[in-house]
Amino acid sequence: MEICFISYAWDKMEPDIDSTLLLAHECASRGHQVYMLTSDNLTIRDSKTMGFCEKLDLNYQISEDPEIFFEEAKFSSETKVLGDMDVIFMRDDPPLDPIVLNFLDSIEDDVFLINSIGGLREANNKIYTASYYDPEGEFIPATYVSKNKNYLRQIIEEHDGDKMIMKPLNGFGGKGVIVIEKNAMQNVNSLLDFYIHGQESNKSNYVIIQDYVEGAEKGDVRVIMLHDQPLGAIRRVPAKGEARSNISSGGTAEHYVLNEKEIELCKRIGAKLVEDGIYFSGLDLIGGKLIEVNVLSPGGLVEINWNLETPIQSLVVDYLEERVAEKK
Ligand SMILES: Nc1ncnc2c1ncn2[C@@H]1O[C@H](COP(=O)(O)OP(=O)(O)O)[C@@H](O)[C@H]1O
Ligand SMILES: [Mg+2]
Repeated sequence: MEICFISYAWDKMEPDIDSTLLLAHECASRGHQVYMLTSDNLTIRDSKTMGFCEKLDLNYQISEDPEIFFEEAKFSSETKVLGDMDVIFMRDDPPLDPIVLNFLDSIEDDVFLINSIGGLREANNKIYTASYYDPEGEFIPATYVSKNKNYLRQIIEEHDGDKMIMKPLNGFGGKGVIVIEKNAMQNVNSLLDFYIHGQESNKSNYVIIQDYVEGAEKGDVRVIMLHDQPLGAIRRVPAKGEARSNISSGGTAEHYVLNEKEIELCKRIGAKLVEDGIYFSGLDLIGGKLIEVNVLSPGGLVEINWNLETPIQSLVVDYLEERVAEKK
Protein backbone atom coordinates (compact mmCIF):
# COMPACT_ATOMS: atom_id res chain seq x y z
CA MET A 1 0.00 0.00 0.00
CA GLU A 2 0.97 3.59 -0.51
CA ILE A 3 -0.13 5.61 2.48
CA CYS A 4 0.14 9.35 2.92
CA PHE A 5 -0.10 10.94 6.35
CA ILE A 6 -1.26 14.54 6.17
CA SER A 7 0.32 15.50 9.42
CA TYR A 8 2.26 17.97 11.50
CA ALA A 9 5.94 17.89 10.59
CA TRP A 10 8.09 14.84 11.48
CA ASP A 11 10.45 16.94 13.59
CA LYS A 12 7.51 18.20 15.67
CA MET A 13 6.74 14.69 16.92
CA GLU A 14 7.40 13.64 20.49
CA PRO A 15 8.78 10.17 19.72
CA ASP A 16 8.00 8.62 23.14
CA ILE A 17 4.28 9.49 23.06
CA ASP A 18 3.38 10.33 19.48
CA SER A 19 0.39 8.44 18.07
CA THR A 20 1.09 9.37 14.42
CA LEU A 21 4.60 7.97 14.77
CA LEU A 22 3.17 4.63 15.97
CA LEU A 23 0.86 4.47 12.96
CA ALA A 24 3.62 5.36 10.48
CA HIS A 25 5.97 2.85 12.14
CA GLU A 26 3.41 0.05 11.89
CA CYS A 27 2.84 0.79 8.18
CA ALA A 28 6.57 0.92 7.42
CA SER A 29 7.26 -2.28 9.42
CA ARG A 30 4.80 -4.11 7.17
CA GLY A 31 6.52 -2.80 4.07
CA HIS A 32 3.90 -0.24 3.12
CA GLN A 33 5.25 2.87 1.45
CA VAL A 34 4.82 5.81 3.84
CA TYR A 35 4.70 9.44 2.71
CA MET A 36 4.51 12.38 5.10
CA LEU A 37 2.85 15.57 3.91
CA THR A 38 2.22 18.80 5.80
CA SER A 39 -0.97 20.54 4.73
CA ASP A 40 0.95 23.63 3.57
CA ASN A 41 2.53 21.40 0.89
CA LEU A 42 -0.72 20.64 -0.94
CA THR A 43 -1.00 21.91 -4.49
CA ILE A 44 -3.08 21.55 -7.66
CA ARG A 45 -1.45 21.09 -11.05
CA ASP A 46 -3.18 20.11 -14.33
CA SER A 47 -6.36 19.92 -12.24
CA LYS A 48 -4.84 17.15 -10.09
CA THR A 49 -4.41 17.38 -6.33
CA MET A 50 -0.77 16.80 -5.50
CA GLY A 51 1.54 17.04 -2.53
CA PHE A 52 5.18 17.90 -2.09
CA CYS A 53 5.66 14.75 -0.04
CA GLU A 54 8.48 13.30 2.02
CA LYS A 55 8.89 9.66 0.97
CA LEU A 56 10.19 7.32 3.67
CA ASP A 57 13.25 5.31 2.65
CA LEU A 58 12.40 1.62 3.18
CA ASN A 59 15.77 0.24 2.06
CA TYR A 60 17.04 -0.63 5.48
CA GLN A 61 16.03 -2.82 8.43
CA ILE A 62 13.33 -0.89 10.28
CA SER A 63 13.81 -1.01 14.03
CA GLU A 64 11.09 -2.62 16.14
CA ASP A 65 11.37 0.36 18.47
CA PRO A 66 9.35 3.37 17.25
CA GLU A 67 11.74 5.82 18.93
CA ILE A 68 14.76 4.34 17.12
CA PHE A 69 12.70 4.28 13.90
CA PHE A 70 12.03 7.99 14.46
CA GLU A 71 15.74 8.77 14.82
CA GLU A 72 16.85 6.62 11.87
CA ALA A 73 14.10 7.55 9.38
CA LYS A 74 15.32 9.07 6.12
CA PHE A 75 13.16 10.79 3.58
CA SER A 76 13.45 12.00 0.01
CA SER A 77 11.26 14.73 -1.47
CA GLU A 78 8.80 13.66 -4.14
CA THR A 79 5.82 15.37 -5.74
CA LYS A 80 2.95 12.87 -5.75
CA VAL A 81 -0.52 12.78 -7.26
CA LEU A 82 -2.57 12.13 -4.13
CA GLY A 83 -5.26 10.26 -6.06
CA ASP A 84 -2.64 7.54 -6.71
CA MET A 85 -2.28 6.77 -3.00
CA ASP A 86 -4.21 3.89 -1.43
CA VAL A 87 -4.81 5.64 1.88
CA ILE A 88 -4.74 9.22 3.08
CA PHE A 89 -4.58 9.40 6.85
CA MET A 90 -5.44 12.81 8.31
CA ARG A 91 -3.22 13.43 11.31
CA ASP A 92 -3.04 17.21 11.28
CA ASP A 93 -3.21 19.24 14.45
CA PRO A 94 -6.53 20.92 15.18
CA PRO A 95 -8.11 23.27 14.22
CA LEU A 96 -8.92 21.77 10.83
CA ASP A 97 -8.24 24.06 7.88
CA PRO A 98 -11.34 23.59 5.68
CA ILE A 99 -9.28 24.40 2.58
CA VAL A 100 -7.45 21.09 3.05
CA LEU A 101 -10.80 19.38 2.51
CA ASN A 102 -11.31 21.35 -0.71
CA PHE A 103 -8.03 19.95 -2.00
CA LEU A 104 -9.15 16.41 -1.14
CA ASP A 105 -12.70 16.69 -2.53
CA SER A 106 -11.61 15.73 -6.05
CA ILE A 107 -9.87 12.51 -4.99
CA GLU A 108 -12.44 11.23 -2.53
CA ASP A 109 -13.46 8.31 -4.78
CA ASP A 110 -9.89 7.28 -5.62
CA VAL A 111 -8.41 6.87 -2.15
CA PHE A 112 -9.48 5.51 1.24
CA LEU A 113 -9.63 8.62 3.39
CA ILE A 114 -9.53 8.19 7.13
CA ASN A 115 -11.62 10.02 8.06
CA SER A 116 -13.89 10.78 5.11
CA ILE A 117 -14.24 14.37 4.00
CA GLY A 118 -17.92 14.37 4.95
CA GLY A 119 -17.08 13.08 8.43
CA LEU A 120 -14.30 15.60 8.96
CA ARG A 121 -16.51 18.43 7.78
CA GLU A 122 -19.47 17.44 9.89
CA ALA A 123 -17.60 16.67 13.08
CA ASN A 124 -15.16 19.53 12.76
CA ASN A 125 -16.49 21.31 15.85
CA LYS A 126 -18.59 20.63 18.94
CA ILE A 127 -21.95 21.15 17.18
CA TYR A 128 -21.53 17.56 15.99
CA THR A 129 -21.91 16.10 19.49
CA ALA A 130 -24.54 18.67 20.48
CA SER A 131 -26.67 17.54 17.52
CA TYR A 132 -26.81 13.86 18.51
CA TYR A 133 -30.40 12.71 19.01
CA ASP A 134 -30.88 12.10 22.72
CA PRO A 135 -34.36 13.27 23.74
CA GLU A 136 -34.23 11.59 27.17
CA GLY A 137 -30.83 13.10 28.04
CA GLU A 138 -29.41 9.59 28.42
CA PHE A 139 -25.92 10.11 27.07
CA ILE A 140 -25.38 13.76 26.11
CA PRO A 141 -25.27 16.44 28.82
CA ALA A 142 -27.84 19.20 28.15
CA THR A 143 -26.04 21.53 25.70
CA TYR A 144 -26.90 25.02 24.47
CA VAL A 145 -25.11 26.59 21.50
CA SER A 146 -25.68 30.24 20.66
CA LYS A 147 -24.24 33.70 20.04
CA ASN A 148 -27.17 35.31 21.82
CA LYS A 149 -25.88 36.63 25.13
CA ASN A 150 -29.28 37.19 26.74
CA TYR A 151 -30.40 33.68 25.88
CA LEU A 152 -27.24 32.08 27.28
CA ARG A 153 -27.42 34.20 30.42
CA GLN A 154 -31.02 33.13 30.94
CA ILE A 155 -30.06 29.46 30.54
CA ILE A 156 -27.46 29.84 33.25
CA GLU A 157 -29.84 31.73 35.57
CA GLU A 158 -32.62 29.17 35.20
CA HIS A 159 -30.33 26.15 35.54
CA ASP A 160 -30.99 23.92 38.57
CA GLY A 161 -27.42 23.00 39.49
CA ASP A 162 -24.85 25.35 41.02
CA LYS A 163 -22.43 25.24 38.09
CA MET A 164 -22.22 24.82 34.32
CA ILE A 165 -19.46 24.48 31.74
CA MET A 166 -18.77 27.15 29.15
CA LYS A 167 -16.56 26.54 26.10
CA PRO A 168 -15.88 27.94 22.65
CA LEU A 169 -17.48 25.96 19.82
CA ASN A 170 -14.21 25.62 17.95
CA GLY A 171 -11.92 24.91 20.90
CA PHE A 172 -9.50 22.01 21.34
CA GLY A 173 -6.98 20.84 23.93
CA GLY A 174 -9.15 22.26 26.72
CA LYS A 175 -8.63 25.85 25.56
CA GLY A 176 -11.26 28.21 26.94
CA VAL A 177 -13.17 25.48 28.84
CA ILE A 178 -14.32 27.05 32.12
CA VAL A 179 -16.69 26.31 34.99
CA ILE A 180 -19.38 28.94 35.57
CA GLU A 181 -20.46 29.13 39.21
CA LYS A 182 -23.97 30.41 39.75
CA ASN A 183 -22.93 32.24 42.89
CA ALA A 184 -20.57 34.39 40.78
CA MET A 185 -23.11 35.64 38.24
CA GLN A 186 -21.59 39.13 38.20
CA ASN A 187 -18.81 37.71 35.97
CA VAL A 188 -21.09 36.07 33.48
CA ASN A 189 -21.98 39.10 31.33
CA SER A 190 -18.37 40.01 30.84
CA LEU A 191 -17.37 36.40 30.10
CA LEU A 192 -20.17 35.98 27.55
CA ASP A 193 -19.14 39.25 25.86
CA PHE A 194 -15.56 38.05 25.72
CA TYR A 195 -16.39 34.54 24.45
CA ILE A 196 -18.84 35.83 21.84
CA HIS A 197 -16.95 38.87 20.58
CA GLY A 198 -13.34 38.35 21.68
CA GLN A 199 -11.53 41.65 21.37
CA GLU A 200 -13.05 42.55 18.01
CA SER A 201 -16.58 43.88 17.97
CA ASN A 202 -17.08 43.21 14.22
CA LYS A 203 -16.76 39.42 14.64
CA SER A 204 -18.65 36.92 16.74
CA ASN A 205 -18.21 33.32 17.85
CA TYR A 206 -20.59 30.62 18.97
CA VAL A 207 -20.43 29.62 22.60
CA ILE A 208 -21.46 26.36 24.29
CA ILE A 209 -23.08 26.21 27.70
CA GLN A 210 -23.38 22.68 29.04
CA ASP A 211 -24.53 20.88 32.17
CA TYR A 212 -21.56 20.17 34.40
CA VAL A 213 -21.27 16.38 34.53
CA GLU A 214 -20.74 15.25 38.10
CA GLY A 215 -17.60 13.23 38.62
CA ALA A 216 -15.57 15.29 36.13
CA GLU A 217 -13.17 16.27 38.89
CA LYS A 218 -12.01 12.63 38.96
CA GLY A 219 -11.17 12.82 35.27
CA ASP A 220 -12.61 11.88 31.91
CA VAL A 221 -12.24 8.75 29.81
CA ARG A 222 -10.64 8.89 26.36
CA VAL A 223 -11.78 6.01 24.15
CA ILE A 224 -10.22 5.20 20.78
CA MET A 225 -12.81 4.02 18.27
CA LEU A 226 -12.04 2.06 15.09
CA HIS A 227 -14.96 1.67 12.69
CA ASP A 228 -17.85 1.07 15.15
CA GLN A 229 -15.88 -0.55 17.99
CA PRO A 230 -14.07 0.81 21.05
CA LEU A 231 -10.46 -0.46 21.05
CA GLY A 232 -9.38 0.72 24.47
CA ALA A 233 -9.33 3.64 26.84
CA ILE A 234 -7.41 5.68 29.39
CA ARG A 235 -8.58 7.89 32.20
CA ARG A 236 -7.21 11.43 32.11
CA VAL A 237 -7.05 13.00 35.54
CA PRO A 238 -6.96 16.80 35.79
CA ALA A 239 -4.12 18.55 37.59
CA LYS A 240 -4.89 19.88 41.08
CA GLY A 241 -7.19 22.88 40.94
CA GLU A 242 -7.96 22.28 37.26
CA ALA A 243 -11.36 21.43 35.70
CA ARG A 244 -10.00 20.19 32.36
CA SER A 245 -8.60 16.69 31.94
CA ASN A 246 -6.80 17.27 28.63
CA ILE A 247 -3.15 16.16 28.72
CA SER A 248 -2.28 19.51 27.11
CA SER A 249 -3.91 21.19 30.12
CA GLY A 250 -1.77 19.29 32.62
CA GLY A 251 -3.88 16.11 32.93
CA THR A 252 -2.19 12.75 33.52
CA ALA A 253 -3.08 9.41 31.96
CA GLU A 254 -4.05 6.38 34.07
CA HIS A 255 -4.96 2.79 33.19
CA TYR A 256 -8.64 2.38 32.52
CA VAL A 257 -10.87 -0.49 31.45
CA LEU A 258 -14.28 0.42 30.02
CA ASN A 259 -17.27 -0.93 31.95
CA GLU A 260 -20.18 -2.64 30.21
CA LYS A 261 -22.34 0.47 30.15
CA GLU A 262 -19.55 2.46 28.51
CA ILE A 263 -18.93 -0.27 25.93
CA GLU A 264 -22.65 -0.21 25.06
CA LEU A 265 -22.58 3.58 24.73
CA CYS A 266 -19.49 3.46 22.49
CA LYS A 267 -21.10 0.86 20.22
CA ARG A 268 -24.24 2.97 19.95
CA ILE A 269 -22.19 6.04 19.05
CA GLY A 270 -20.00 3.88 16.78
CA ALA A 271 -22.91 3.01 14.50
CA LYS A 272 -23.52 6.71 13.90
CA LEU A 273 -19.81 7.42 13.41
CA VAL A 274 -19.54 4.87 10.61
CA GLU A 275 -22.71 6.23 8.99
CA ASP A 276 -21.02 9.65 9.02
CA GLY A 277 -17.73 8.38 7.54
CA ILE A 278 -15.78 8.58 10.80
CA TYR A 279 -13.66 5.43 11.05
CA PHE A 280 -11.01 6.45 13.57
CA SER A 281 -11.82 8.80 16.42
CA GLY A 282 -11.36 9.61 20.08
CA LEU A 283 -14.37 9.94 22.35
CA ASP A 284 -14.31 11.90 25.61
CA LEU A 285 -16.68 10.40 28.20
CA ILE A 286 -17.52 11.56 31.70
CA GLY A 287 -19.85 9.64 34.01
CA GLY A 288 -21.15 7.58 31.09
CA LYS A 289 -21.96 10.70 29.03
CA LEU A 290 -20.43 11.72 25.72
CA ILE A 291 -18.63 15.07 25.93
CA GLU A 292 -16.82 15.20 22.62
CA VAL A 293 -15.91 13.29 19.45
CA ASN A 294 -12.37 14.04 18.21
CA VAL A 295 -12.02 13.18 14.55
CA LEU A 296 -8.94 14.97 13.30
CA SER A 297 -5.95 13.53 15.08
CA PRO A 298 -6.92 11.68 18.25
CA GLY A 299 -3.97 10.80 20.47
CA GLY A 300 -3.28 8.67 23.50
CA LEU A 301 -2.33 5.47 21.64
CA VAL A 302 0.87 4.92 23.62
CA GLU A 303 -1.01 5.06 26.93
CA ILE A 304 -4.04 3.06 25.78
CA ASN A 305 -1.70 0.32 24.51
CA TRP A 306 -0.61 -0.30 28.14
CA ASN A 307 -3.78 -2.35 28.59
CA LEU A 308 -3.98 -4.14 25.26
CA GLU A 309 -2.63 -7.40 23.95
CA THR A 310 -2.62 -6.16 20.35
CA PRO A 311 -1.52 -2.54 20.04
CA ILE A 312 -3.98 -0.13 18.45
CA GLN A 313 -1.71 0.74 15.52
CA SER A 314 -1.66 -2.91 14.51
CA LEU A 315 -5.49 -3.12 14.53
CA VAL A 316 -5.70 0.14 12.58
CA VAL A 317 -3.30 -1.00 9.86
CA ASP A 318 -5.16 -4.36 9.61
CA TYR A 319 -8.28 -2.28 9.03
CA LEU A 320 -6.62 -0.10 6.38
CA GLU A 321 -5.41 -3.22 4.54
CA GLU A 322 -8.95 -4.63 4.58
CA ARG A 323 -10.56 -1.41 3.37
CA VAL A 324 -8.03 -1.02 0.54
CA ALA A 325 -8.46 -4.66 -0.52
CA GLU A 326 -12.26 -4.16 -0.62
CA LYS A 327 -11.84 -1.07 -2.76
CA LYS A 328 -9.66 -2.92 -5.25
N1 LIG B 1 -19.96 19.18 30.57
C1 LIG B 1 -18.81 19.01 31.22
N2 LIG B 1 -18.81 18.67 32.54
C2 LIG B 1 -17.65 18.52 33.22
N3 LIG B 1 -16.43 18.67 32.67
C3 LIG B 1 -16.35 19.01 31.37
C4 LIG B 1 -17.54 19.19 30.57
N4 LIG B 1 -17.16 19.52 29.32
C5 LIG B 1 -15.82 19.55 29.33
N5 LIG B 1 -15.31 19.22 30.55
C6 LIG B 1 -13.88 19.10 30.90
O1 LIG B 1 -13.11 19.89 30.01
C7 LIG B 1 -12.31 19.04 29.14
C8 LIG B 1 -12.26 19.61 27.73
O2 LIG B 1 -13.58 19.67 27.18
P1 LIG B 1 -13.92 19.17 25.71
O3 LIG B 1 -15.35 19.45 25.48
O4 LIG B 1 -13.44 17.79 25.52
O5 LIG B 1 -13.09 20.20 24.81
P2 LIG B 1 -11.65 20.13 24.09
O6 LIG B 1 -11.97 20.07 22.65
O7 LIG B 1 -10.98 21.41 24.46
O8 LIG B 1 -10.96 18.90 24.58
C9 LIG B 1 -12.95 17.68 29.24
O9 LIG B 1 -12.03 16.67 28.92
C10 LIG B 1 -13.42 17.66 30.68
O10 LIG B 1 -12.34 17.41 31.56
MG1 LIG C 1 -11.74 16.94 24.52
